[in-house]
Amino acid sequence: MTDSSSSLGQRQAPEFDSSVPQTARIWNYWLGGKDHFPADQAVGDQILEAFPEIVENARASRAFLARAVRYLAGEAGIRQFLDIGTGLPTANNTHQVAQAVAPECRIVYVDNDPLVLAHARALLTSSPEGATDYIDADLRDPGRILQEAARTLDFSQPVAIMLMEILGHIEDDDEAQSIVKRLMGAVPSGSYLTMNDSTDTSAEVVEAARIWNQSAKPPYHLRSPERIARFFDGLELVEPGVVSPLEWRPEPGSGPPAEIDSLCGIGRKP
Ligand SMILES: C[S@@+](CC[C@H](N)C(=O)[O-])C[C@H]1O[C@@H](n2cnc3c(N)ncnc32)[C@H](O)[C@@H]1O
Repeated sequence: MTDSSSSLGQRQAPEFDSSVPQTARIWNYWLGGKDHFPADQAVGDQILEAFPEIVENARASRAFLARAVRYLAGEAGIRQFLDIGTGLPTANNTHQVAQAVAPECRIVYVDNDPLVLAHARALLTSSPEGATDYIDADLRDPGRILQEAARTLDFSQPVAIMLMEILGHIEDDDEAQSIVKRLMGAVPSGSYLTMNDSTDTSAEVVEAARIWNQSAKPPYHLRSPERIARFFDGLELVEPGVVSPLEWRPEPGSGPPAEIDSLCGIGRKP
């Protein structure tokens, strides 16, 4: 195991309030994990009632993450990943998928949820040839993320920046765009942006977001497909472009994609 994380060393006993439903824990509940509390389950169930497709959305999103990382480490030849908004460890974490393709891959995880920090050791199980690190930081502070990630990543070489189901937590488009631009501005040509977020494309998902924002933290803001596509401005979209996670290079034999309220894509910095 390679553990170069000073963040973990600094904060061994993170504190969290189990009575306030949190995004990482509710997501874990929908994905069938065990790292959540009754408050997370209660709001997760309320949303499930309004929007039963949320479980399929969450699973499709994780399956896209695995196919995207396989593509990036395989066909695209990427060896460095910066996964911001990591979530609680689950099956097919980024380093496991990437290092199964190329064991020398180096992965930095970033999240600001104390429970994710408490579970972060499970993300630091690197292959001996590669490395993993975890940074306890906020996406709103990209400068700090880039500075701390430089312990593990070489920013003169291409990096895949992953923003999976996190940009919806940044309400303002200008702020979200400026974060993406700051991150992509710090990596060289041949780097990639991989993102995935929920869309405002059905009455059910809009109701789900309303319920979420009544009690869960941090709030989540749905975007239209056009607003999501704009995050890839200036990048070369990898085929098939910005599509539903079920339509992004599906596994052979996976059948016709269902309609889900989510969009994803991978863009290459020219
Ligand atoms: C819906 S989960 C997605 C987890 C994972 N990326 C996935 O696709 O399965 C969103 C994650 O982003 C994290 N997050 C939300 N806002 C954040 C912020 N401002 N800075 C860092 N992490 C944040 C949450 O703690 C949570 O773990």
